[in-house]
Amino acid sequence: MAKVKEGWGSRVGLILAMAGNAVGLGNFLRFPIQAVQNGGGAFIIPYLVSFLLMGIPLLWVEWAIGRYGGVRGNHSSPFIMGSMTKQRLWKYIGVFGIFTNLGILSYYTYIESWTLSYTFGSIIQTFSGLSATEVSKVFNDYVGIAAASGNGGLVVNIPLLAIVAFIITLAINVYVLSKGLSGGIEKVAKIAMPMLLIFGVFLAIMAFSIGNTGEPGCTTCNSMVGFDFLWKPNFDSLGNPKVWLAAAGQIFFTLSVGMGTILCYAAYVKKHEDIALNAMTAGWMNGFVEIVLGASIVIPIAVGYMGLDWVKDNAGFMMAFKTMPYLFGKWGPLLASLAGVAWFGLLFIAGITSSLAMGTPWMGFVEDEFNWSRKKGAYTLGLLVLVLALPTILFFQAGVFDEYDYWTGTVALVIFAVAEIILFGWVFGMDKGWNEITDGADIKVPKIYKPVIKWVTPIFLIVILLSSLIKPLNGEVADWQAAVNQLFSTGTWPFASDSIIGQIFHVNQEVIWFKDGAPTVMFAKDMSRMLLLLTIAGLSYMVHVASKKRKLKELKKSTS
Ligand code: ALA
Repeated sequence: MAKVKEGWGSRVGLILAMAGNAVGLGNFLRFPIQAVQNGGGAFIIPYLVSFLLMGIPLLWVEWAIGRYGGVRGNHSSPFIMGSMTKQRLWKYIGVFGIFTNLGILSYYTYIESWTLSYTFGSIIQTFSGLSATEVSKVFNDYVGIAAASGNGGLVVNIPLLAIVAFIITLAINVYVLSKGLSGGIEKVAKIAMPMLLIFGVFLAIMAFSIGNTGEPGCTTCNSMVGFDFLWKPNFDSLGNPKVWLAAAGQIFFTLSVGMGTILCYAAYVKKHEDIALNAMTAGWMNGFVEIVLGASIVIPIAVGYMGLDWVKDNAGFMMAFKTMPYLFGKWGPLLASLAGVAWFGLLFIAGITSSLAMGTPWMGFVEDEFNWSRKKGAYTLGLLVLVLALPTILFFQAGVFDEYDYWTGTVALVIFAVAEIILFGWVFGMDKGWNEITDGADIKVPKIYKPVIKWVTPIFLIVILLSSLIKPLNGEVADWQAAVNQLFSTGTWPFASDSIIGQIFHVNQEVIWFKDGAPTVMFAKDMSRMLLLLTIAGLSYMVHVASKKRKLKELKKSTS
């Protein structure tokens, strides 16, 4: 246990840093695409219900756990969780709160580096006069996408420019982290968050103002059609488990719950300082940025020029890079350049305030347990992320990037959240837990949340985890019914390949690691899983060593 060397400088700084942690690429890239892929306005109700029953409770729980551990001198999830109970298991479960961040950072910082390059690209008007196909090709060339080999073997991508940009982005993160919470992260958040709002509002106004673009032969080429599609609530999907899973997954990612970052940031909050209002301010700020700004940029602009059907068929994460610069080009060179800087600059800002948060759990851990300096913590983080990120860069085409996103950005969050809510409501105890949430609160926390945290949220989370574990092919209501019928008639279950079980056992895929003597795509994916497992093992070992060190210290203290 180390003396507290870090701390937040001001309440505004803390809230902006927490909001910056939540507001990220997820708000501008992930949310609009998830919404389109899940029926537009049909996504909104499951999203809001997930926010109220899962997001808000988890925010309060994580802030409370974090402050509780921090007040007792712990700033990393293993020891924060470990301080709440005598059961040793929880310390090891806490490893997820460091691991998940390292895993996500490894691909998140890579995307962040694209946004940095594309901001410069927009300043020097790289995309000026290019056709849609050419703009898309710029991206493929940038990440080094190569022609696939005929036999489906592994293709290695060596994108030199992208690697340099990645290293620069990582170095910026490491530098800010090495300056500490108030001297680095808080300062960045205070400048970045207002800038993000300015860029976002500018782009949203542009999207509103384009209206009907009159693109020849396109009846839906109107940005208002895009707004309407995303915002008009629609009740069709309320019974569709697929939409619920997607909405819950988005709430996790966007609020950064189940990651361990909130725990770590909150560990630097002082005793009896408000957490209830702070958590709500940061959480609602994120919701505003996501629903109002996130939904007002990429989709309405794309619908404006390409039409609703095109967007429904092509909506994907890469649209931000492959399509947006081309669409901005329709506004003339100067506005295109400005919009490009605003869009990619906004993404960079959103990204960096989140990646900085993801760096802190490792720093808190090594500073507390191994007495490393802040600088050493930041440098080792940079090194670890570099090693973990290289496979996502070099085997981008093989899907290692998606593999990391699936395991660390999707599955791990739910597992950790289930653990946290059980620890808080059941092991630590709900009465004590409620006292923690309301201690120093500047708002009256609605009492209904006490039973919600104890019962509703855990059940909600366990249902999500189980459904993701055994999701049947396609995952629509009819598919679940068919799966149950199949279970009773044949004793088998049709796992979807993107269910957790399906992923682990490569259901519906042939497992081939080598073909004609050369490694396959599956080999690369499986090796990346091994690397992630190795990271968990390494961190668990470090927790074991740290626990021993603590015990020895206590022993010395009691005998002296
Ligand atoms: N919450 C962060 C985001 O939305 C991770 O990108």
